[in-house]
Amino acid sequence: MTARRILIAGCGDLGTALGRKLAGEDAEVWGLRRSARSLPAPLHTLRGDLLSPLHLPGGITDAVYLATPGRYEDEAYLQTYVLGLRNLLAALRGHPVKRLVFVSSTAVYGQLDGEWVSEDSPAEPRSFSGRRMLQGEALALRSGIEATVVRFGGIYGAGRERMLRKVRGGEPCAAEPPHYTNRIHRDDCVGVLAHVLEPQTPDGIYLAVDDAPCTQCELMDYLAEQLDCPRPERVAAPRGGLRGSNKRCSNRKLKDSGYRFLYPSYREGYRALLESAAANKPSRPGSAPR
Ligand SMILES: NC(=O)c1ccc[n+]([C@@H]2O[C@H](COP(=O)([O-])OP(=O)(O)OC[C@H]3O[C@@H](n4cnc5c(N)ncnc54)[C@H](OP(=O)(O)O)[C@@H]3O)[C@@H](O)[C@H]2O)c1
Repeated sequence: MTARRILIAGCGDLGTALGRKLAGEDAEVWGLRRSARSLPAPLHTLRGDLLSPLHLPGGITDAVYLATPGRYEDEAYLQTYVLGLRNLLAALRGHPVKRLVFVSSTAVYGQLDGEWVSEDSPAEPRSFSGRRMLQGEALALRSGIEATVVRFGGIYGAGRERMLRKVRGGEPCAAEPPHYTNRIHRDDCVGVLAHVLEPQTPDGIYLAVDDAPCTQCELMDYLAEQLDCPRPERVAAPRGGLRGSNKRCSNRKLKDSGYRFLYPSYREGYRALLESAAANKPSRPGSAPR
């Protein structure tokens, strides 16, 4: 008998990779999204809109909420992170759900001066995006289901090459005051989600970033060196950057829970990404660049 019946609500890039990883491990997996395109076997495709009545297969034991808004606007964030989750929780009533995982982001922190933050630090977002995600977190944590919140930093990897484009395009970096970036490789995002779904991993909030928060200039200098491009010009930036936060995130709790990073820092992660591109391996064919 299959032990787990897992629903991935918002099954795109991370959800599909997670589903493929779990479906081989004594679990049946359904991926929900609006698009009619089928998910690869052995995933079951569930077509539906989180903002409309949902028809779920019976007996869901685990749910992962991974929907992403299509626009950087408050209304879209409200719909995706709050109203969609509320609707899903209603649809899950009566299911034997043992664990709910809500994917959030480090945007919930409003610290401005590059200070270190952990899961215990105040989360007082200055951006609408952070405020809506925090609302979603609260809904998940008070749902009555054992809930885990995963706060990802900036995701990079195949098909997510914004920083590489910035360096190739000769964009400057924010040097004054130093602006920190907290990153995680896409394959580690998948690994972390599988890890927090393990029954022995305690529930609660986890910051999911690699070991090496660094300044934007350090990262862009490293990429410029790897790409053989000119070192980016230094510019001044507003305190807290454009989205009102500047912090270094600690992954201690995640590592103490037993997670081992595939790419402990941006150096290994971007090197692998560039090597794979050089070997001309199409990593995510057909997907739009992020
Ligand atoms: N990008 C970053 O640096 C970053 C940082 C921190 C956290 N995160 C989080 O990481 C996750 C990123 O996941 P990802 O890369 O896998 O995103 P993705 O590839 O864009 O997948 C998101 C999926 O959600 C589905 N979706 C969106 N609205 C929906 C709705 N109303 N009903 C049903 N399905 C819906 C989309 O499919 P349809 O459009 O077909 O419905 C899509 O398949 C998100 O939770 C995001 O908040 C990202």
